[in-house]
Amino acid sequence: MQDILKRLEDMRDAARAGGGQKRVDAQHAKGRLTARERIELLLDPDSFEEWDMFVEHRCADFGMAANKVPGDGVVTGYGTVNGRLIFVFSQDFTVFGGSLSEAHAEKICKVMDQAMRVGAPVIGLNDSGGARIQEGVASLAGYAEVFQRNIMASGVVPQISLVMGPCAGGAVYSPAMTDFIFMVKDSSYMFVTGPDVVKTVTHETVTFEQLGGALTHSQKSGVADLAFENDVEALLQLRRFIDFLPASNREKAPLRETPDPIDRDEPSLDTLIPANPNKPYDMHELIRKVADEGDFFEIQPEFAKNILTGFARLGGETVGIVANQPMVLAGCLDIDSSRKAARFVRFCDCFNIPIITFVDVPGFLPGTAQEYGGIIKHGAKLLFAYGEATVPKITVITRKAYGGAYDVMSSKHLRGDVNFAWPSAEIAVMGPKGAVEIIFRSDIGDKDKIAARTEEYREKFANPFVAGARGFIDDVIMPHSTRKRLCRSLAMLRDKQLSNPWKKHDNIPL
Ligand code: HXC
Repeated sequence: MQDILKRLEDMRDAARAGGGQKRVDAQHAKGRLTARERIELLLDPDSFEEWDMFVEHRCADFGMAANKVPGDGVVTGYGTVNGRLIFVFSQDFTVFGGSLSEAHAEKICKVMDQAMRVGAPVIGLNDSGGARIQEGVASLAGYAEVFQRNIMASGVVPQISLVMGPCAGGAVYSPAMTDFIFMVKDSSYMFVTGPDVVKTVTHETVTFEQLGGALTHSQKSGVADLAFENDVEALLQLRRFIDFLPASNREKAPLRETPDPIDRDEPSLDTLIPANPNKPYDMHELIRKVADEGDFFEIQPEFAKNILTGFARLGGETVGIVANQPMVLAGCLDIDSSRKAARFVRFCDCFNIPIITFVDVPGFLPGTAQEYGGIIKHGAKLLFAYGEATVPKITVITRKAYGGAYDVMSSKHLRGDVNFAWPSAEIAVMGPKGAVEIIFRSDIGDKDKIAARTEEYREKFANPFVAGARGFIDDVIMPHSTRKRLCRSLAMLRDKQLSNPWKKHDNIPL
């Protein structure tokens, strides 16, 4: 028995050693943690149950038969984060560059299948040179097996990718199909083809970082949701993030006790809206003042900054927040902000997370760049996402709600459950100036007449009461009472039931 136990320990040691000390040192020298160190930081202490430590690849070509490392370049299993179950795989760059073999893929698939069966999130810590070159098509098949599971798990359990090293070629499509992608600055990159191929095909000279680094994807492409300074920060923030989410589509997010009173008044909100309707203010301030303990986990803070998306809690309950940001492009809707918010709304709807929408939107951004880029289809995504969502939807119009954007931003007509407006709300087809220039075009030369008409229009429409008179707004509320009114509405909606007609799936404009 002693011999057997010793053999087991030796085998475990061999798996834990990964690709050997030299490669571990190289990993550390790049400022990166190893696959196991990452899991240790992510999970609660002593909660990790590892699976498939003894799995080896089955490749015999190119001298691989004599070159096997137990575990085959990925550490998999399950554990807890703040006491809640999650499944995890962490690619080990020290073993064949974390490249994906058939056996490596089978390990990932096993945890994904089990996560779907029991209803728990899957976290992928990606650090891989891509398909295991020595294995050829077997490796490609392995990727496709993972992709298929990403698709099946979508909307069933939350899937989060933390890209912590290379992620190139077709390998990017597994993270791309997960719900959130987090990256590490100066340490991770994602692209379909690398700088060398880019140079050959398009003659562009570009670095790894410029082409697919964390800043590129969190600011320019919108592929990544967040970029962190280093591995440690990324993993600790991921722990905080998971706390906001339900384990699966069968559950609600956990309630978290808060010392913050649900009826807390916030008098400073009464002066948040500037007297001049063209002056911006920071929508973050409203969100932080309303949320439990001011805690807001923002998603894509550096991309399409004219709309804010993220998670907060109200009375302990997780909510998804979507808010126009008047500080950027006056808070208008454009291609990027529509895509950003649509995907976020759909995530919330998949996972039973109520959506709170703060509206201050002057309309859609005009121009050829937007039209040629397909704003019609992209704007429709957000409209579609709100309209199909069956989770509780509460809307607060703080100032402008003009034109089609009024309809889109979780209006009553898209099955908004509770629609509030502040007294400063202006709900109309367009702003007074634009409206008067169209309907009184013949008076344009007459300044006094135009001024009088503009004032008349402002009087009539630049308020919430016309919409209130039709029941499109349930109540006009004092800004300082916003938290209380939202918390009460959420409590009222806790057992909301609403379903859409049966269909195989919808055909959202892509
Ligand atoms: C097998 C690989 C590997 C791979 C790296 N290694 N990538 N082994 N298959 N895909 C091994 C190296 O041989 C090396 O082994 C170790 O991992 C570390 O690699 P280095 O090159 O020394 O590291 P570094 O300089 O940091 O460069 C990392 C890298 C580079 C940029 C990722 O290794 C690289 O370009 N790899 C190939 C990337 C690639 O083209 N992959 C296929 C993409 S196509 P030793 O023994 O020396 O430590 C793809 C298709 C997916 O993935 C399709 C899905 C549909």
